[in-house]
Amino acid sequence: MVPVIAIDGPSGSGKGTIAKLVAQRLGWHYLDSGALYRALGLAVDRHGIDPADPAAVADLARRLDLRFDGERIWLDGEDVSAAIRSEAAGNQASRVAAIPEVRAALLQWQRDYARPPGLVADGRDMGSVVFPRAPLRIFLDASPEERAQRRYNQLKEKGMDVSLPALAEEIRERDARDRGRAAAPLVAAPGAFVLDSTGLSIDQVLARVLAWVGAALPGSLPQ
Ligand code: C5P
Repeated sequence: MVPVIAIDGPSGSGKGTIAKLVAQRLGWHYLDSGALYRALGLAVDRHGIDPADPAAVADLARRLDLRFDGERIWLDGEDVSAAIRSEAAGNQASRVAAIPEVRAALLQWQRDYARPPGLVADGRDMGSVVFPRAPLRIFLDASPEERAQRRYNQLKEKGMDVSLPALAEEIRERDARDRGRAAAPLVAAPGAFVLDSTGLSIDQVLARVLAWVGAALPGSLPQ
């Protein structure tokens, strides 16, 4: 069994940043499952598929030509790493992610990512659905205001043109859809360690998470 650390949480909770740092520290693989749904959302637009047609979207999900290569993500042979990061792409992702057949189609793809020596996976249902037997499950959260501000800073850093109030509204909408959907809603998995990172620095959150890693997976942290 390949060990998995599942880190879930809403947009702007810091789960991506923390998951990447933990993976680096351990020398494990990293899966950004949100990027998978974002790429599918983009593919739906590009192939002219109706996002409200579950069968058509699920069919596309099954034959998605997607490749993750470190920080780069390739869709149909094109580098879409920047294109999938907009808030519009996040919203489209959350629409297609609500379709149960789509989630089923992408399940094995995600599980195949668990390769030695281990995997750190971040998303919404890593601990609850995709890797329910993960020895460490973490749920990161933060206040809606702080999450909107973090996303704003992130997108600004990437040179994107964003407005804080519009972003806060989009995040609110997306969270409501992710939490309210029937298939794999955003929830803390049973037994997950929950951390509210409001007001905490990345280093403070990382220290807390690494302490959990050390306790749940003894010997995994390099000395
Ligand atoms: O994490 P990120 O913001 O990139 O995710 C984009 C969207 O993809 C989320 O709002 C959510 O609807 C969907 N998602 C999901 N399950 C995951 C990861 C992301 O439904 N494991």
